Formats: sequence, C-alpha cells, structure tokens
Amino acid sequence: MTGGSVTVDVHLDAADVACALLRDAAQGLATRPRSLPPKWFYDERGSALFDDITRLEEYYPTRRELEILRRHAGEVAAACPADTLIELGSGTSAKTTLLLDALEAAGSLARVVPFDVSESTLRTAADTLARAYPGVVVHAVVGDFERHLHLLPTGGRRLVAFLGGTIGNLGPAQRGAFLGRIATGLAPGDGLVLGVDLVKEPDRLVRAYDDAAGVTAAFNRNLLAVLNRELGADFDLDAFAHVACWVPEQEWIEMRLRSLAAQRVSIPAIGMEVDFAGGEELRTEISAKFRRQRLDDELSAAGLRLARWWTDTAGDFAVALAFPA
Ligand code: SAH
Ligand code: AVI
Repeated sequence: MTGGSVTVDVHLDAADVACALLRDAAQGLATRPRSLPPKWFYDERGSALFDDITRLEEYYPTRRELEILRRHAGEVAAACPADTLIELGSGTSAKTTLLLDALEAAGSLARVVPFDVSESTLRTAADTLARAYPGVVVHAVVGDFERHLHLLPTGGRRLVAFLGGTIGNLGPAQRGAFLGRIATGLAPGDGLVLGVDLVKEPDRLVRAYDDAAGVTAAFNRNLLAVLNRELGADFDLDAFAHVACWVPEQEWIEMRLRSLAAQRVSIPAIGMEVDFAGGEELRTEISAKFRRQRLDDELSAAGLRLARWWTDTAGDFAVALAFPA
C-alpha cells in the first residue's frame, strides 16, 4: 500500500533536548527529596520497554482503554466529528487507530497530528499511520506538551486525544496549567478525549508498576542509562532498586529508584557530584489515579466541560470527552 503524505515539525532538536535535560537533572538532583521528570524515560529503549509494559498481564490500563475505545469511539466521533485528530504523547499511536477509524466512518477525517517528545518513536508511528490511512495528511510534531501546545497545527475542527493515563504523570499544579492551555487552544466545537486510570485496590496498582518479569524495573532504571549517555554520568544501574508504592493521600503511584548503598555519582555535564545515602530514594514518576468527581472538578477549573464518561466493564479505566465550557 502506498502511504500518504507525512510532514514532521521539530520543536525540540538535539540541542533543546540536551539543554532541558541538563536543567531538569541539575534542579531535580539538587533538591531533596530528589526527583526527575518522567519524560526522560522515553529514549528508544525506554519507548520499547513501555511498549513491552503495555502487554504485561499486570499492566491493565492499555487493555482496558482499548476495550472502551472499541465500544465507544463511534460515540466520540458522533459527538465531535473532527477533521483533525491531534494525539498528545502519542507513542506508537496503536490505540489511536480506533478513533481514526471512527472519524473516517463519520466522513470527517482529513488530518492526524501525532505529537511526542520521542522523535524516533514519532517518526515510526507517523509512517505507520500514513500507510494505514493513505488519504489522510499526517502532520507529526516533535515537542513537549508542557511547552509547545501553542505550536500545534491550527484550522479545521480538532479533537485532541490524550490517552493511556499520561495526564496522571503530571502533578496537580502541572495538570491544572496543562488543561488550562488545552482549554485556551480549543475553539467552540473542538474536543478533548482523555484517558484516565481510576483509583482501585492498592495491591493491583502496585503490581501494575512492579511486574514479576521486571520490565517496569528495567524501564525505571533506563532513566539512569539516559543520564549516563546524555550527561556522561556514572550511575551503576545495579546499585539502585526499583520501587513502586501507592501514596494514599495523593491517590497516586510513585516510582522511585532506591540507592542500595551510600554512593557518589558523578555527572560531568552539570559539574555535580551527587551523594546518595544508603536507602535514599530518587522519585522518577508519579502516576495519578482518578475518580470521576476529581476529574470533573479539574476540567471545570481549567475551563472545560465534562460531556461524556465511559469506563470498561471492570471499572478500571475511564475515557472522558470534554469541550470548552
Ligand atoms: N499514548 C500512548 C503512549 C503512552 S507512553 C499510550 O496510551 O499507550 C507516554 C508517551 O508520552 C511516550 O510516548 C512519551 O514519549 C510521551 N511523553 C512523555 N512526556 C512527554 C512530554 N512532556 N511531551 C510530549 N510527549 C511526552
Ligand atoms: C505513560 N504512563 C501513563 C504510564 C503510567 O502508567 O503512568 C507510564 C508507566 N510507568 C510505569 N509503567 C507505565
């Protein structure tokens, strides 16, 4: 099959990425407790490990969201017959095809805009989409959804998809700012389709982030490999244990890397020697879990109106459709 046209806008080139990583590492490793933003997981290996995670028995969100989209994508397309589907944090765009098929069946689809911080994953996904939807313009955007939303392609009726529960990887203040920027960017008739993981028994949540085969542990430690490669750091990956725990007060999962012994890590690119005490933890990700009311409140506060809410039959995951208020 011949593919349709693909264009790629790059708002994050290698120099921007290097600069942003330097800043995040310098800041996150100097403050206590230490933390790093999860967007740095997703180099080629990290993106491939995430893909493996989505197939793990313990990691239910991908399967549950697929179930919801299989059942309700047609209703999304009927409520918002967009010509442009923009997908933030698109990764492989595997689930997106359900929304694209529904928009195509509704007769409205003309353009798809996958948007991701990981250029290699994005380029592969864009080529796959172009082959699968030869009549559709594929306009891929390499960028950071916390910095570059104002650079998204405009025009037409747009449906923004933010799937997989990735919104839960933002803290409450970041989420408020992010949703506010989305609301400002949407025109009347545009929509936001949002996948969120739901609060459930902590045991199941912890297992989803600490699988028996150790894939999530490898994903977590890969962040240190990124710092070694990009910043010349000398993290010993085996000297850090993968930790996943439920924080009930915040209703989020935290992934951390726990230093197995007192150790000094050198990070030449930022001129830092970082001393870890034995047992000290570095937070690498939060993954917030939602209740309908909380999401409704957060959307309203941002200037968005929750119009539809679908869950899978087990009630594990939800897909919400929102419009500018
Ligand atoms: N949407 C897919 C992939 C989720 S993994 C799914 O539901 O399965 C999270 C994706 O978001 C990764 O592809 C990662 O590269 C991307 N990502 C993480 N932080 C980002 C940021 N700040 N800006 C843009 N993309 C980001
Ligand atoms: C991308 N994001 C929604 C995943 C999550 O579940 O928070 C990332 C992930 N981290 C560990 N496993 C998967």
